[in-house]
Amino acid sequence: FFKFHNKVNNTKIIHPPTISNVAPPAGVWYNFCKLKPLSPKEAFEEDLLLQSIAWPDTPPLQSLSLRKSSDPAHSTFTILGRMGEGQWQIGDKMEVIIKMYDFQGRPKNCGGDVIVARLHNPALGAGVAGKVVDHLNGSYSAVFSLLWEGSAQVEVILVHPSEAVTVLGRLTREQPDRVFFKSQFRSGRVSETTTCNVCLRPSRQPVCNYTELHTGQQWFCYKPEKLSCDARISHSRGGFTQNITAMENKLFQSGVNLKVSIQASGLANITVLQQKKGKVSLESGPSGYYYQGVWRALGGTTVWQFNTSSAITQCLRGKVIKMYGDSTIRQWFEYFNGEFNLHSPKQTGPFIALDYPNNIFLMYRCHGPPIRFMNVPISEVHYIANELDNVIGGSNTVVVLGIWSHFSTFPIEVYIRRLQSIRSAVVRLLSRAPETLVVIRTANPKALNLYETLTNSDWYSLQRDKVLRAMFKGLNVHLVDAWEMVVAYNLPHSLHPQPPIIKNMINVLLSYICPQKGG
Ligand SMILES: *[C@@H]1O[C@H](CO)[C@@H](O)[C@H](O)[C@H]1NC(C)=O
Ligand SMILES: *[C@@H]1O[C@H](CO)[C@@H](O)[C@H](O)[C@H]1NC(C)=O
Ligand SMILES: *[C@@H]1O[C@H](CO)[C@@H](O)[C@H](O)[C@H]1NC(C)=O
Ligand SMILES: *[C@@H]1O[C@H](CO)[C@@H](O)[C@H](O)[C@H]1NC(C)=O
Ligand SMILES: *[C@@H]1O[C@H](CO)[C@@H](O)[C@H](O)[C@H]1NC(C)=O
Repeated sequence: FFKFHNKVNNTKIIHPPTISNVAPPAGVWYNFCKLKPLSPKEAFEEDLLLQSIAWPDTPPLQSLSLRKSSDPAHSTFTILGRMGEGQWQIGDKMEVIIKMYDFQGRPKNCGGDVIVARLHNPALGAGVAGKVVDHLNGSYSAVFSLLWEGSAQVEVILVHPSEAVTVLGRLTREQPDRVFFKSQFRSGRVSETTTCNVCLRPSRQPVCNYTELHTGQQWFCYKPEKLSCDARISHSRGGFTQNITAMENKLFQSGVNLKVSIQASGLANITVLQQKKGKVSLESGPSGYYYQGVWRALGGTTVWQFNTSSAITQCLRGKVIKMYGDSTIRQWFEYFNGEFNLHSPKQTGPFIALDYPNNIFLMYRCHGPPIRFMNVPISEVHYIANELDNVIGGSNTVVVLGIWSHFSTFPIEVYIRRLQSIRSAVVRLLSRAPETLVVIRTANPKALNLYETLTNSDWYSLQRDKVLRAMFKGLNVHLVDAWEMVVAYNLPHSLHPQPPIIKNMINVLLSYICPQKGG
């Protein structure tokens, strides 16, 4: 997983508050949006998380101009020579320096560009994600672990210029409601629809408060004129209010400055030799890499290949697999459902698939608001934390979680609050049934156009992904590193990764479930 190191001296020391003498903080405000206050302990964690994802300063809104913004066409990268010279060997780390220039060809002197990098060899089906470091002066390093013998080619992609990050930040601050939702209310023949959100703009209209008491997750709809708040029957994605200036618009142009490759100033590839001696150091390296199209994890897990339906069935025999999250988790359910050849409709769910002869129970349920699905009946609007509290758990139970993409447009604090509630439920589950296997799918980069960017940019996903990883660190949960698995594969980024990537993800999942293959 790549990281942007914020080298700004960010050493504000915060002492953990003691519960007794510190009043709970007053909550967080985003424009008109007030988020519920956290307990001192949670607020302390939130502070640390916010510091850990602090993005370098980007140019101020007032001074944005396309001409002075980062231009991938003028920018270049250079492969640095091998330390201690000689030829590249497996186990080495290779560094690439990326120099950013603006549209006038002038060197950039601030950081904050969003850059991803990979090293790959299409013929070998090999690929690995690089770790990008922001030097905050217009140059960046991408560091790669060399993991296969033969040719390796560097690819560097500018996802967003730093100027675009300024705009993305503004949108969240000023319009945390730009993605909005609808609920239908019905009683007898009367039916009404109103707008709903995490926060509603103040108005004279009365509001229904659907804040969920057990998990504390806030949710509001405007009250229908005739019907009562109790008459709510469904939740839906409402729409999106796009509100950016013509100038800002120029910072998000496909083929110009939105997910565009940066070219090498010299060679973009190297040749890697067999390692002569010594051990491969994988310290702070990637979580895995592809070789012959197959994901190999580096964290100590052996990824087995479950190539046939019978291998999958054998692994899952006697298991209860409960999947909760967004459509990227539903994709996994659909993969299995295809394998078992059980047919169920493909909308919002929940879905269940059963394999009677092999005693396999498979279930998918979407996460709660702000899920952007259409027409979720209110009786099916469930929060993951509450669902987990109803899981008995045990050695035959697998819980799979994936929740990230629908939180992009909201303040990060909304996501932190959601994960805090889910994590508490995971901790309760693992303490009552420690043998339960919990697997979490991380976020991944996706195809971006202007609309996709403003509602779901990789920059938003990246920030949320860092928070997710930090919050579950140290718990007995397993990650499927969707971020690196998508960056490293030789296919375009996609919100719903293409079948070969899904197959690899499922193999990682199954290898957690069946560490002794077929066992
Ligand atoms: C930017 O910072 C890096 C790391 O400190 C340094 O190596 C490099 O020379 C600097 N580049 C410029 C143009 O100042
Ligand atoms: C909504 O309800 C929750 C839970 O009862 C409460 O804590 C919160 O203050 C309410 N919010 C508003 C704006 O009324
Ligand atoms: C659109 O942006 C302008 C300027 O930032 C702001 O005044 C206005 O309230 C925004 N409109 C909406 C619907 O968010
Ligand atoms: C790098 O790529 C070029 C063009 O594809 C190729 O001709 C060359 O042999 C490669 N060099 C190495 C060191 O792999
Ligand atoms: C499974 O499929 C992969 C990728 O297609 C292939 O490399 C591997 O040999 C297969 N393994 C088995 C055990 O069939």
